Amino acid sequence: MTYSGYILLLYDYRYTPSVLTKGEEGLPENFLWKGRFGPMNLLISDTTFRPSTITTLIAKELRIDQGEVAIDVGCGSGVLAIIAAKLGAKHVHAIDKSPDVIEVGRANAEKNDVADRITFYQGDLFEPLDENLQADVIIGDVSGIPDTLADESGWFPTKGGGGSRGSELPIRMLEEARRRLSSGGRLFLPTGSLQDESSIIDAARRLYTRVRKLTERAIPLPNKLASSQVLSELVERGVVRISTRGSRSLWEARVWEVSGLS
Ligand SMILES: C[S@@+](CC[C@H](N)C(=O)[O-])C[C@H]1O[C@@H](n2cnc3c(N)ncnc32)[C@H](O)[C@@H]1O
Repeated sequence: MTYSGYILLLYDYRYTPSVLTKGEEGLPENFLWKGRFGPMNLLISDTTFRPSTITTLIAKELRIDQGEVAIDVGCGSGVLAIIAAKLGAKHVHAIDKSPDVIEVGRANAEKNDVADRITFYQGDLFEPLDENLQADVIIGDVSGIPDTLADESGWFPTKGGGGSRGSELPIRMLEEARRRLSSGGRLFLPTGSLQDESSIIDAARRLYTRVRKLTERAIPLPNKLASSQVLSELVERGVVRISTRGSRSLWEARVWEVSGLS
């Protein structure tokens, strides 16, 4: 079967074959989202982040009032942008550095009947947006584990993480989000013990007046990653924190609501 034939069969959507010229092994796969508003079919290419437990936690906590404008920075497949639209957002601007985010995101939004209310952009953080664009809600879920750990885990198909401590990119996002958040707006921020979490929370408290924890969860680490040299070095340097329960290694994930410009 031809590449485009394969896509049309799966998604009933005219997917531009030239955009995903990654060879047979790069064929997009179908991912079944079982979190909020699920089950939802999502197209995942070989440069799309696969929705994770953190995605599920953010989705659960996300609050959007009818008619609000949202920005989803680090949108991956677009799943949180789709949920924001389903919650009543008037429009969602969704950005990712993944090279095919516009095509993948659009296909997923079409599939889930919200394509008229989401615009996808490819680029770095808020840079592709119109200079004056502001939003009531920002979903700030950019990659945030140390680069070495990101590459070791294989969780980030676009390669690299959030900097050498996993905090540099989220902090830059928090800084740049200040001029993107309308007054009274809120930002949803995931953090975790697999990054220099305290630096991120300190930055959030310096840049915004209100930082409120919404939820937290202990998540098992895959055994291979738990026993890796990369992880032990980061633990030794005090960048990441791991706990154990029986034979399992666990890390902690948290979701915060950040608001009020200081
Ligand atoms: C943890 S994933 C989350 C994806 C999506 N929100 C989800 O939950 O499925 C982080 C995403 O941020 C993207 N990303 C990393 N650095 C970025 C940057 N500088 N600008 C825009 N997106 C970035 C990655 O490609 C990845 O899709």
